[in-house]
Amino acid sequence: MPKTLRNAPIRDWEAGDNVQGFALLTKKEQRQDRNGKSFLDMELADSTGSMVAKVWSDSPALNAAYETHQFVAFRGSVKNYRDQLQLNIDECRQASEADRHYGFDESKLIPSTREDIDDLWRRLERIYSEDVERPVMRRLAAETIAIHGKALREHPAAKAMHHAYRGGLLEHVVSMAELGRLVCSHYRELDRDLVLVGVLFHDLGKLKELGAMPANDYTLEGRLIGHVVMGRDLLIERCAAIPGFPEDLRILLEHMVLSHQGKKEFASPVEPMTPEALALHFIDDLDSKINQLRNSREAATGMQFHRGLGRYVYLPPIPLPEEMPAAAGIEAIAAEPHALEMAEMEMPPEEGVGDATPPEPAEIQAGLFGGE
Ligand SMILES: [Fe+2]
Ligand SMILES: [Fe+2]
Repeated sequence: MPKTLRNAPIRDWEAGDNVQGFALLTKKEQRQDRNGKSFLDMELADSTGSMVAKVWSDSPALNAAYETHQFVAFRGSVKNYRDQLQLNIDECRQASEADRHYGFDESKLIPSTREDIDDLWRRLERIYSEDVERPVMRRLAAETIAIHGKALREHPAAKAMHHAYRGGLLEHVVSMAELGRLVCSHYRELDRDLVLVGVLFHDLGKLKELGAMPANDYTLEGRLIGHVVMGRDLLIERCAAIPGFPEDLRILLEHMVLSHQGKKEFASPVEPMTPEALALHFIDDLDSKINQLRNSREAATGMQFHRGLGRYVYLPPIPLPEEMPAAAGIEAIAAEPHALEMAEMEMPPEEGVGDATPPEPAEIQAGLFGGE
């Protein structure tokens, strides 16, 4: 049933809802309709998801001052357009300090991994301390994690294609390392140390190729050099810091980092020539593509053209938690914090708390957009 939602997570919006609150503006493009009238094609995001948003030519939000990568206050209605939800924006402006009174909180608006970052971190530390055999390779991994770990926890793994959110690179590396462990127990001739350390380094150059969230844009160095070569530089730097690091292992790892994108047209100067490099490439490819389809399926199910894959894909609806086998409980747990938030929002405001009392809906509307 259509309802009015204030500060509700994007994932909970449904067709017909009137929504208002705050979001990160992740895309903004001025376009023209068939009649030559300007409109804005945008995307709003929060920590739970994103939605296409349109500002039509008759909306006062068309000429208001707000830009991509800014936090904005908005008001609009959710519509179903060609089986996809989109937001038609009535009003929009840059969010300000004063908006904190109305619930503006950046930490709820930066797209983030669904997984618990501390849990991902524990899994990363466990793999690289327990599953890497050679002491010199364990040391390489431990020192790399100690130096780059803080950035790794926060960084996205890509600008748009896959894991493009806070903690995305850590999620990608842990997922690949766990997958790599399985692949090495299946293909026993593979050198597990090389596969695991290759996973750790393969996208490490992204720490410098891309800026941090929320802008998540290419740095000048990133555009000019690219994460493949930058990752290899970081690898050489870390190996050089370990006296007597075996040259043969360093060269094999360098080859893996340089070839992980699989083909020269995908920015790899060499293509995979060792079994471990080939395994790394396919593990990376699998993890990024499954992540892309997962993200697409959360936005819309059914048959759809997938830009990343360049072809149509069919994404059946996500089964309800009770229809899924045991592991699916994770989704339910991940959704729980929002259920709690929603429950808190539904509660009547406490009386006599002065400024801490949440404003009434009319007050929010007036406060957000200068009254109407
Ligand atoms: Fe890569
Ligand atoms: Fe990758």
